[in-house]
Amino acid sequence: MLEIKIKQDLSHKNINIMQVQVNEPLLDGNEKKYLNECIDTGWISSEGPFIKQFENGLATYLNRKHAIAVSNGTVAIDIAIDALDLKIGDEIIMPTFTIISCVSGLIKKGCIPVFVDQEPDTWNMNVDQIESKITSRTKAIMVVHIYGLPVEMNKVLEIATKYNLKIIEDAAEMHGQEYLGKKCGSFGDISTLSFYPNKHITTGEGGMVLTDNDELANKCRSLRNLCFIPEQRFLHYELGYNARMTNMQAAIGLAQLERIDSFVEKKRWIGKKYTEQLKHVTSLQFPLEKTTFAENIYWVYGVVIKDNQIMDAKEAMEKFADAGIGTRPFFWGLHEQPVLKHYNINVDGSFPISEHMSRQGFYLPSGLAITESQINYVCDTLLKIFK
Ligand SMILES: Cc1ncc(COP(=O)(O)O)c(C=O)c1O
Repeated sequence: MLEIKIKQDLSHKNINIMQVQVNEPLLDGNEKKYLNECIDTGWISSEGPFIKQFENGLATYLNRKHAIAVSNGTVAIDIAIDALDLKIGDEIIMPTFTIISCVSGLIKKGCIPVFVDQEPDTWNMNVDQIESKITSRTKAIMVVHIYGLPVEMNKVLEIATKYNLKIIEDAAEMHGQEYLGKKCGSFGDISTLSFYPNKHITTGEGGMVLTDNDELANKCRSLRNLCFIPEQRFLHYELGYNARMTNMQAAIGLAQLERIDSFVEKKRWIGKKYTEQLKHVTSLQFPLEKTTFAENIYWVYGVVIKDNQIMDAKEAMEKFADAGIGTRPFFWGLHEQPVLKHYNINVDGSFPISEHMSRQGFYLPSGLAITESQINYVCDTLLKIFK
């Protein structure tokens, strides 16, 4: 049975001034108890016992041999890139529509991102564009599952095998999602997660690197901890990061992990509630409920205004803000990022789907703590804005 904690919403009598945050996490399990243990025992640093418990719990949940807890999802990707030993001039094929975190480590290393556009219906990378972008310099494919549906992984795996390419899988937004029954986060040579508070499970700030390869796992562990060596602690042969997660973050993460399946259920419930009430609005595109390989887990509930003559996302978001409702814009395509010019990255190709999504897309309040009456208020407001 769906076990959802719907908080009593005391403001329903005064619905016009209801405030709906774009994202509020649920921290009503063992979070406080485990945090108190950290304080009572004095284990607040990365050496504490919750780190291993959280890592082992996630490794088991995702069926991976190694899970390495780090301080955020961005540095998880940086560490993955370093561990795979990508070098100056190596090309990595990746979606353009994602967060800057996916590309910043690559660019700083002198690697060359090669972008593919998105699919108009799933909003994920268009895997049919990958093969035509492969050159003798291509070393890896970076997969980023976007907003709630997984990338078409069988096609990616087939291409990676055919051309002997590594897969970096960013499953930051895909906790608990499966592709044909296999968990997202279990597909990459290295996969990464983020635990920012808008994620299905959170640690405040935090991330995880996942792999089945012992050598890669050792490298990642060393990289997260400044590449200290056991024989002579302050002697360094390599440069790493201080990307350690604290025991307090892991304590929250463990408590969250205990309830991950119910969180996924709640997110699906949120998604269904929105779709039920909004699906008749013909000027908007809504998330697909499912594909042939997965059911949406609605990391966020995105909407895209189909016609830019009606209004753009910015204008719509302002109207929601006037009604006390928090929203967020969609990502801005990496191929359009001004910073790429500073690094002399030339972008080939056209990316009309991403460009449309960036300008016309935004997401509605989608946090785990949202109540049914808040969802109803957001829907009523949307129906007024797009009447
Ligand atoms: C797809 C994706 N990758 C990476 C990140 C970065 O994670 P963090 O904010 O923990 O650095 C995010 C953050 O939202 C994300 O959505």
